[in-house]
Amino acid sequence: MSRYTMGAFALVGILVGCGNDANAPGPFSGEVVHPELPPLPDVSGLTPLPDLNPDPHIVEVDLVARSHAVQLLPGEPTQLFNYNDQFPGPLLHARAGDRVIVHFKNELAEETVVHWHGLRISDQMDGSPVIQNPVQPGASFTYDFVVPDPGTFWYHTHLHQIQQLEYGLYGAIVVHERDFPVFSAERIFVGDDIRLRTTNNQISGFLTSGPDIGAGRVGNRLLSNGRIINGEGGEGPVTFTIPRGAIERWRFVLATNALSYGLRIRGADARVISTDGGLLPEAFPLDRVEIAPGQRYDFEVRPKPDATEIVLEALVLVLDENDNVVEAPFELARGTIEGEVVTPEPVYPKVSLPATSVEATPHEWKLSGGVVDGQVQFTINGVPSYVGEGHEHVLLDTFEPNVPVKITLSSNVSPRHPFHIHGQFFQILERGGKPVFEPGLRDTVEVRGNETATILTYFENHGRWMVHCHISEHSENGMMADIQVGTPVAAHAH
Ligand code: C2O
Ligand code: CU
Repeated sequence: MSRYTMGAFALVGILVGCGNDANAPGPFSGEVVHPELPPLPDVSGLTPLPDLNPDPHIVEVDLVARSHAVQLLPGEPTQLFNYNDQFPGPLLHARAGDRVIVHFKNELAEETVVHWHGLRISDQMDGSPVIQNPVQPGASFTYDFVVPDPGTFWYHTHLHQIQQLEYGLYGAIVVHERDFPVFSAERIFVGDDIRLRTTNNQISGFLTSGPDIGAGRVGNRLLSNGRIINGEGGEGPVTFTIPRGAIERWRFVLATNALSYGLRIRGADARVISTDGGLLPEAFPLDRVEIAPGQRYDFEVRPKPDATEIVLEALVLVLDENDNVVEAPFELARGTIEGEVVTPEPVYPKVSLPATSVEATPHEWKLSGGVVDGQVQFTINGVPSYVGEGHEHVLLDTFEPNVPVKITLSSNVSPRHPFHIHGQFFQILERGGKPVFEPGLRDTVEVRGNETATILTYFENHGRWMVHCHISEHSENGMMADIQVGTPVAAHAH
């Protein structure tokens, strides 16, 4: 187990059940006290997966992928691929340190795998197509792992991702801190976009060249928790009520194929409390944050004294009527202020991050692309790598575990690359060689066009891990290699 996780667990051991009488020392010396685990807080917005296992430390669930028709717009329902006939998929809800068992069944007419984005689990259970054979139509696979870190994560298909992700094969994961701060409410929002045909509401065809590959596929509709929020026939933002005096935790996951946007919250004093890899040592006020495909943020939200509503907005680049690129706000969620409560201040667990001012081995990953034989091809360090049939697959780098490494990622051509490393966390240190304030643990960093971004990681999790751009159109056209951390073990055949 990694150094960081050990630290987190040692802390948990001390803090769990704080302020809970059951945790007070027993009357008899030497008595081992097993504190009762408080129930997990509700997270509104998505339906949790029913836990089939009575053991409080095991979450055991059934997950099935299949086609599913959803009434997104008036008229014809849209044919999607979903988990458990829900869009987004159901919420996987656990506590740090829990064992999670997922009985997965593929009822699609095509192969798939499930990847647990951000969970630092064993590579054997990561749903990486480098290790796991595709789950064939009609076949099943049991994922079985321990969730080491608290935070907001997500799960999604990792095969034929351009199509399967656009078709809706994703869901959210919430792993609560063992000593979670208590809020008046927790909510989760998953953002997405989708390109629908105006004639029949079906997902429009996939182009294999042009801007859809160059920049990634962007939709004509925006979604918030599976509802279309913009344009004719859309349902509009997710709505709810919030009492004055509330202190809420809002979690946000971006599940688009390619679209990045800004996020802001109007009508509230909001703070950023968590990034991809969990709580920050210190929250900071939310003005706006930029979010890229695959990333997550949690916000602490308090209604402003004079507010009548609180609105979560996506700030998206669009074309205006004169075809100028402008930024426009889109409402993802709207809470109407109603009633009043008194909320005790949430008590955040103490968090410390791995040191960043350390000697670290420098590495470079150059993200690029070009046209080869009329086909757009993306590369890392000049080499295209694919996971899929008939293509070459590349081991990019090998790292020693628990040794700090500074990786400078660069994009020498215009597209952005939200770059993701499986099974590890890192911190963002610099952009263009200058220090930046983008605190917290991450698993995905947006590398903007003609820019460098420098990250620091300790590669704490042994195994063979994928590293790729999270724009599916880039990863599946060459920008998807893998790395080895520590000594390879014989690959299991699944
Ligand atoms: Cu969210 Cu390799 O992916
Ligand atoms: Cu990319």
